[in-house]
Amino acid sequence: MTGGPPAPATRRQFLGLTAAAGFALVAGCSARQPTAAGPSTTPGGLRLTAAPMRVDLAGSEIPTWGYGTLPGPEIRLRAGDRLRVELGNELPDDTTIHWHGLAPPNRMDGVPGLTQDPVAPGERFTYEFETPTAGSFMYHAHVGMQLDRGLYGPLVVEPRSEELAYDREYTVMLDDWRDGMDAHGGHGADGGHGAEDDRDPGDSVSFGGRSYPLLLVNGRPPEDPPVLGTRRGDRLRLRVMNIAADTGFRFAIAGHRLTVTHTDGMPVEPVTVDALRLGMGERYDVLVESTQPGGAWQVGVQAEGRGGWGRAVLRYSGSEASSPPAVAQRPGELDGRLVAYPDLLAREPLALPSGEPARHYDLELSGTEIGGQSYPDADPLPVAEGEWVRITMRNTSAKWHPMHLHGHHFQVRTPTGRGPVKDTVTVAARGGVVSFDFLATNPGDWLFHCHNHHHMEDGMVRVVRYR
Ligand code: C2O
Ligand code: CU
Repeated sequence: MTGGPPAPATRRQFLGLTAAAGFALVAGCSARQPTAAGPSTTPGGLRLTAAPMRVDLAGSEIPTWGYGTLPGPEIRLRAGDRLRVELGNELPDDTTIHWHGLAPPNRMDGVPGLTQDPVAPGERFTYEFETPTAGSFMYHAHVGMQLDRGLYGPLVVEPRSEELAYDREYTVMLDDWRDGMDAHGGHGADGGHGAEDDRDPGDSVSFGGRSYPLLLVNGRPPEDPPVLGTRRGDRLRLRVMNIAADTGFRFAIAGHRLTVTHTDGMPVEPVTVDALRLGMGERYDVLVESTQPGGAWQVGVQAEGRGGWGRAVLRYSGSEASSPPAVAQRPGELDGRLVAYPDLLAREPLALPSGEPARHYDLELSGTEIGGQSYPDADPLPVAEGEWVRITMRNTSAKWHPMHLHGHHFQVRTPTGRGPVKDTVTVAARGGVVSFDFLATNPGDWLFHCHNHHHMEDGMVRVVRYR
C-alpha cells in the first residue's frame, strides 16, 4: 500500500508512487507484473491525521480541515491487498472515514452512529479490510458537512494484472470550494459569494443549490493549475473523480478526445467521447492519446448549470517555453459528445440470476425526500442476504441527485441490458428515471443517499438493512 505525502516518517518507504510524482505504469506486458511484487503490496499501513490546516489557494492562505495535503494523500493498493489506515482525530469535532465505492465489511464503512461510534477528538480508529476489487475510489469524512472541507483523498486499487496499456497516469480530483473563504471575499471571479447568491441559479440543470467561489482541480485553483506532463505519442490514463459537495462537472481537454474505460472504477467497453459529465461521487477513467505535436492544452472543468470554472494544463515535454492557455480559455470539446449511461456497456456485468428481482423498491425523489421520507425519520429498506434487489428512482424534484449506495456495486439498467456497473448514479431533474440492480451479498446497514451533501444533511438518506 502506498500513500502520497505527507505521511509519518515511519511510512516513508511507502511513498513515491503517487500520481503527483508522475506515477507511471509502462504499457503492455511490463504492466503485467507477477503477483505480490512491487512496493504497493508492502504490508503495513498508513496513518491519516484529520486536523485543522491551511491551504494556499493561488496566494491566499485559507484555513480548513484536512489530512495534511489537499487532496489528502493518495492511497494505492493492489487488488487483494489489505487496507490498513489508522485515523487520528486532531479536529475539535468527531470524525470518521468512508471508503467511497469500496465494499468493506459493514463495521469499516465509516458511518457514525450506524456502522461505528464516531472517532472523538484526540482518539484513533484503525480501518482494516481487504480490497479485492480494482478501481478508482475515494475516501472522505462522513460526519456532517466535513466533506465540504479538505477531508478527502483518492484511493486507487490496481488490478493484479493490468489489461490497459498506457504510459502515464494521473488522478484528477474535482472539487467545489468555499471553506475558509469568508475572510477572503472577492477571491475567484465566478459564481459570486454573497448571501444573496446562495441559491440555485439554474435549478433546471443544477446539481446543487449553493454558490461556491472556487472550483479546484487536485486542490488548485485555476490561477495556479496543476500541470499534467506528457510526451508526443504517449497514452495517458486519467482517473477523474468528483468529490465536490454540491457541484456537477463537465470535463474536457482541448485538442484531445477521451476514451472512457471505467466508470466508478468498474470496466466498460471503451467509448470515445469529447467530454465527461460527473455528478458528485462519480468517477470516470479515460485514456487520452497525446497526438498533438506539443504545446500546453487546457483541461477544462465547468460547473453544470451555473457559473464556475476550474482547470489543469496538459503540457507536452519540450514545450516548457510555450505559455499556458489563458485561465478562462474554454475547450470547445465541452460542447461535444458527452458520455451517457446508455452508451456504456459493462465489461463485467453482475451475475444476476434469471427471472425477476426478489425485491423492488420504487422510490420517488421529491424535494430532498426519498420515497416520501426524510432521514432519520425514515424506514429502513429491508433486504435479505443473497437476494437480487432492484431500486428504481423517479426524480420529480427540480434538482439533479447523484445517488450513492454504500457497500455494493450496482448495475444500471439501460436498453442494452448490459448497463454500467457503478456505485453512484445521477438522476436527472424533473422526471429523470434511473433503475439499478444489485446483489445483496454484504450484510449490514448501508446508507443509500444523495451525494449532494447539502441534500444529505437535509435528510436525503435511507438505510438498506439486511434482515
Ligand atoms: Cu461518498 Cu455516504 O458517501
Ligand atoms: Cu440530491
